[in-house]
Amino acid sequence: MCGIVGYIGKKQAAPIVLDGLSKLEYRGYDSAGIAVFDGKEIVTKKAAGRLAVLENLTHNGENMPGFSGIGHTRWATHGAPSDLNAHPHSNGAGTIVVVHNGIIENYMALKNKLVKKGYEFSSETDTEVLAHLLDYYYDGNPLQTITKVLHRVEGSYALGILFADHPDELYAARKNSPLIVGCSEDGCFIASDVPAILKYTRNVYYLDNQEIARLTADDVKFYTVDEEEIEKQLVTVDWDANAAEKAGYEFFMLKEIYEEPKTVTDTISPRIRNGEIVIEELGLTDEELKAINRIHIVACGSAYHVGVTAKYVIEGMLRIPVEVDLASEFRYRDPILSPEDLVIVVSQSGETADTLEAVRESKARGIKVLAIVNVVGSSIAREADSVFYTWAGPEISVATTKAYSAQLVAFYLLTMKLGRVRGVIDDRRFAKLLEDLQALPDQIELMLGQKEKIQHFANRYVAARSVFFIGRGIDYAIGLEGSLKLKEISYIHSEAYAAGELKHGTISLIEPGTLVVAVATQPELFAKTVSNIKEVKSRGAFVMAIAERGRKEIEKEADYVLYIPFTDPFFANSLAIIPLQLFAYYVSVGKGYDVDHPRNLAKSVTVE
Ligand code: M6R
Repeated sequence: MCGIVGYIGKKQAAPIVLDGLSKLEYRGYDSAGIAVFDGKEIVTKKAAGRLAVLENLTHNGENMPGFSGIGHTRWATHGAPSDLNAHPHSNGAGTIVVVHNGIIENYMALKNKLVKKGYEFSSETDTEVLAHLLDYYYDGNPLQTITKVLHRVEGSYALGILFADHPDELYAARKNSPLIVGCSEDGCFIASDVPAILKYTRNVYYLDNQEIARLTADDVKFYTVDEEEIEKQLVTVDWDANAAEKAGYEFFMLKEIYEEPKTVTDTISPRIRNGEIVIEELGLTDEELKAINRIHIVACGSAYHVGVTAKYVIEGMLRIPVEVDLASEFRYRDPILSPEDLVIVVSQSGETADTLEAVRESKARGIKVLAIVNVVGSSIAREADSVFYTWAGPEISVATTKAYSAQLVAFYLLTMKLGRVRGVIDDRRFAKLLEDLQALPDQIELMLGQKEKIQHFANRYVAARSVFFIGRGIDYAIGLEGSLKLKEISYIHSEAYAAGELKHGTISLIEPGTLVVAVATQPELFAKTVSNIKEVKSRGAFVMAIAERGRKEIEKEADYVLYIPFTDPFFANSLAIIPLQLFAYYVSVGKGYDVDHPRNLAKSVTVE
C-alpha cells in the first residue's frame, strides 16, 4: 500500500528520503509528501500525483535543507488523492509531524473528541487524528506521548514521527503494517520495505507489532508500548542491490519476467540434495507429513491462482484432498478445520492483510500453518509456524510474475516431498519428475525466446474490448492468472473460464473477432478443449492456443498457436504462463500505459 521512508544522519535528508520513496512507489502512488527539520522548524511539502511532482517541487529534495526527514507515498483510503490528504500530517502548530501506513479504525470517535476539545482538522484522513492526538498528550517526552497514543488507537499502523523540539530524534512504531529500521555509518533509516534503503545499508531490524524505535544519527533504541527498552536482532539482508533497479529494461515487469529462469533455479536448487528433496524449513517430521489428512491453501490474487494449480497437482499426484480459499473469504466463513489438516498460505509480500489474518485464524484453532513467502522477515513469515521462502528477490512491478513462478515450483517441491515420504511416488516416477523439474529454467528460457512473436500478436489486440481465457484442469488455473495479468495492467475486460463451463451462459458474449486464449497443455484433456475451441470458433472468435509441442492438430482449429516444450503435465503451468505474462505486458506497452504502476492498484494490500 503506502510507502514510508525516514532518515536521520550526517547527510541531507530530503534527497535520501525521496530516493527511497522512488523505490517504494510500487506500493501506492496517488500522492506523496515529505517533512524535514531544517534547523529551525519542520518544513512540509506535499503534492497529489506521482512522486515526480514532489521531486520537481523540491528539486529532488535539494531545496529542503536538514538532516532528518520523513516521507510518504500514498494510496488513498480515507479521502481522495489531494495535496491536503497527502501525508505528512501535523498538529496545528506544525511541531509534530506524522507519516502513516495502515488504517486507524476508531479515528471517527477520536476525531469527534478532539474536535470537541477545539482541534481543527484540515484533511479527511484517519492519519491526521494521530498528529492531533500526539499534540494533545504531548508533555515534552516523545516516547511517553507515543505510547499513550498507541494505547488509544485501534487498527493498523506503521508510523514515522518528527518532533520539532527533539530535532536529533526520529520515532517509528508499527502494528500490522510493515516497517524496518536500518543503520549505516551515515545515519539511520526507517522504511516500509528493504529496497528503499538497500542502497545505503543491508543492516536492518524488523520492527514487531507494537514496538517503537527511537532513531538518532548514530544509534537506534527499541521500546515496547509500555516504554520498556528491548534488544532486537540485527539482520543482514543479502538481496542484490541491482535487483531493485531496472537494469536497462523499460519496466520492472519485463525485467522480472526475464528473471524467471533464475528465480525458479534459486527456489529449486537449494532443496535438491543427492537426488532427494530436502526442505529443512518445513518444520514437520516425516510422521507429521504422513498424517496430513487435508490441505487448505489460502491466498489472494495471483497467489490464490497458484493455489488453484496446486490443488490439481497435489490431488492428482498424492490423492490428498485440497481446499483452496481466497483469504478474504476464508477468515469469515468459519472454515471447517481439523487437527490433521495443514494450512498453507501463499504470499509474495508476506504482508497481505487477509492472508495474515488467515494465519492467525488457523493458528488460533490449533492448526499448523506453513507459509510460502517471498519477503524475508515479513509479517506472515514471522507469524506462520514454518516458512518456505521463494527466493525470487525483490519484486517491484505491481503485477507479479517471477514470484508467481517461484510459488508454483515451491508447490511442486512440496508435493514431491510429500509423495516421497508417503510412499505414493515410486523411484522411477520421482527420478523423472526431478528431471522435468530441473529442466524448467532452461525451458522457461526457451519460452522467453518467443518474445517477438508474442509482441507482434499483442500489438494486434491493444484495442480489444474483451478477452476470454479457457482451459481445463491446470489449464484453467493458467487462464485465471493470464486473465488477471491482462486485466490489471491493460485494463481490458477479461474472464477466465473452465472450458467446459463457457457454454453455460458466457458463450453468449463471444462475437465475431473476440479473442479467446485457449490453453490446452494437458494431454488427457486436449481433445475436450479442442471441442471447446470449435464451439467458440463457430461463433466467430479468434483463437490463440497454447499447446504441448507436437500437437500440430490444434492448428486446424486455432488461428494462432504457441507451443510449450515437453514437461510433466503437472508442471505445464510454469511454461504456459510465460507467453501470457508477455502478452499482457506488450498489450499494456502498446496502449502506452505505465506497466509497473497500474491504476488503482498497490503491490501489497495491507488493508482488508
Ligand atoms: O503479496 P501477495 O502475494 O500476498 O499479494 C497477493 C495479491 O495481492 C497479488 O498477487 C495481486 O493479485 C497481484 N497484483 C497480481 O499480479
